[in-house]
Amino acid sequence: MRYGDVGEELARRVVDTLRRELDVELTPGEALVRVSPRDGVDYQCDVAMSLGKRLGRAPREIAADLAAKTDLADLTETPEVAGPGFLNFVLRRDWLEARAAALAGDPRLGVAPAEQPRRVAIDYSSPNVAKEMHVGHLRSSVIGDAITRLLRFSGHEVIPHNHLGDWGTPFGMLIEQVLNDGASGPRTISDLNEFYRAARATFDADEAFATRARDRVVLLQSGDEATVAVWRQLVDESMSHFSRVYELLDVELTPEDSYGESFYNPHLAAVVEDLEAAGLTEISDGAVCVFPPGHRNREGDRLPLIVRKRDGGFGYAATDLATVRYWTAERGVTDLLYVVGSPQAQHFAMLFAVCRSAGWLTGEHQAVHIGFGSVLGQDGKTMRTRSGESIKLADLLSEAVEQASARLDGRSTEDRHDVATAVGIGAVKYADLSSDRERDYTFSWDRMLSHEGNTSVYLQYAVVRARSLLAKADRELDGTRVRITDPAERALVLTLLRFPEAVRAATSAYAPHKLCTFLYETAVAFSRFFERCPVLSAEDAEVRASRLVLVDLTSKTLTLGLSLLGISAPDRL
Ligand code: ARG
Repeated sequence: MRYGDVGEELARRVVDTLRRELDVELTPGEALVRVSPRDGVDYQCDVAMSLGKRLGRAPREIAADLAAKTDLADLTETPEVAGPGFLNFVLRRDWLEARAAALAGDPRLGVAPAEQPRRVAIDYSSPNVAKEMHVGHLRSSVIGDAITRLLRFSGHEVIPHNHLGDWGTPFGMLIEQVLNDGASGPRTISDLNEFYRAARATFDADEAFATRARDRVVLLQSGDEATVAVWRQLVDESMSHFSRVYELLDVELTPEDSYGESFYNPHLAAVVEDLEAAGLTEISDGAVCVFPPGHRNREGDRLPLIVRKRDGGFGYAATDLATVRYWTAERGVTDLLYVVGSPQAQHFAMLFAVCRSAGWLTGEHQAVHIGFGSVLGQDGKTMRTRSGESIKLADLLSEAVEQASARLDGRSTEDRHDVATAVGIGAVKYADLSSDRERDYTFSWDRMLSHEGNTSVYLQYAVVRARSLLAKADRELDGTRVRITDPAERALVLTLLRFPEAVRAATSAYAPHKLCTFLYETAVAFSRFFERCPVLSAEDAEVRASRLVLVDLTSKTLTLGLSLLGISAPDRL
């Protein structure tokens, strides 16, 4: 059995009454009646207010009609009409008790799998070969990974692909540098930034090297074996560096998920042909371009998506056109997600427009640019090292573990490192995921590692508390009956029941912060319950058993919720 959302269930019943009892024909927009959780009451609906004008009736009157005629007896007390025409719902105690008990026995905690699963290709992380990953890639990796987990849990098929920057003119210089370095090559690559800088410096200083580098690009593109072998080495070395970061970050990308820019190289000629055949291209300044309608710069000039450059080469845009064509036509995906920083919003808007005109995206497809803001330092500017360089992700993550370890007040158990890793990495990920992704956020060790407030540590502590209570109960939970005897219990139950709503909201808007907010509210409700309601020392055996069920359900909810964000919950802190 599946439970779905309480809000949705209430909304469905209200819509039913509108149609059957009040004879209201709803437009598709109006049919999306929303019933949302509200403080003070349990749920609230404002549909009467939005219908008042059209029906020529007072909203309060419509609301009263809905209250009287909606079949809710099993679910709520009689709804109340409030204010200008709100409909307030208070859930029945016996219903809450039964639902909580049912959830406690459901491994999915009430989340129904999608009725129409979609096949989703998601582009995330996507760092550049022979360069260190930086904080921009942190955001893409962490957000993309959480969205992947959420979509999978919701029953969709998800194909992650890592759009590595592994192609293009810089590779001529990088390959020459490897050859120059001779035997020391691989060692230099282990510091990718150093390696890139060295290649760039030689390129600028040594004319002969620069010429060889340019020739190297041609050799690479024509598939020259020796050149391709060195290129492979560069890609593999970089990938093993990325893999270490993914492992530390607990991000589920593997080398098999790599679909770098080079992968699309054989598809580029067909991209141009298709666009030309569709009559979409224009030659501008010698380059093959498409001008999607409506995209102009500040001066009012039309903006091109450059398909083939004047010199015959292909760039970033051409490769992205190929991604859409490949994933829809050859892999049959319905949804294309790109988790890439917001500065690229225009690129993706133009890309999707062109792909719609080309027929690669149809009404059945959804293409979404999942943008995100920057990580800011304490000075309010994009975070950098003291010497003004971009911060290496690997360094940032080791510091996270150290910072967490330093705060584990002198504990010296052998699992200290594991705990510090769970806390430190969790804190970095959660700080990123818990703020609205479109906004910038300020990076602060003190804030993200605080035991108070909306942090992963706070949630991890709640889990530890719940689990240790359960361990102390030292026998199987006897029975699954839930009895609500205190307002703190009721509030906790009401919050726990919203898990399916939170998962749905976070998944459909690609907004992990909505799940974070829910988890935080759950932990707060749990800690109030914990203060007010004795569990192990409860006098009444039934109350004790019921409270243990609630503790168990809380622990499962927080643990599952954190795992959907890619954050682990250790047994001890
Ligand atoms: N490699 C790019 C960067 O580091 C991001 C690529 C994003 N994906 C894409 N299909 N354009 O900025």
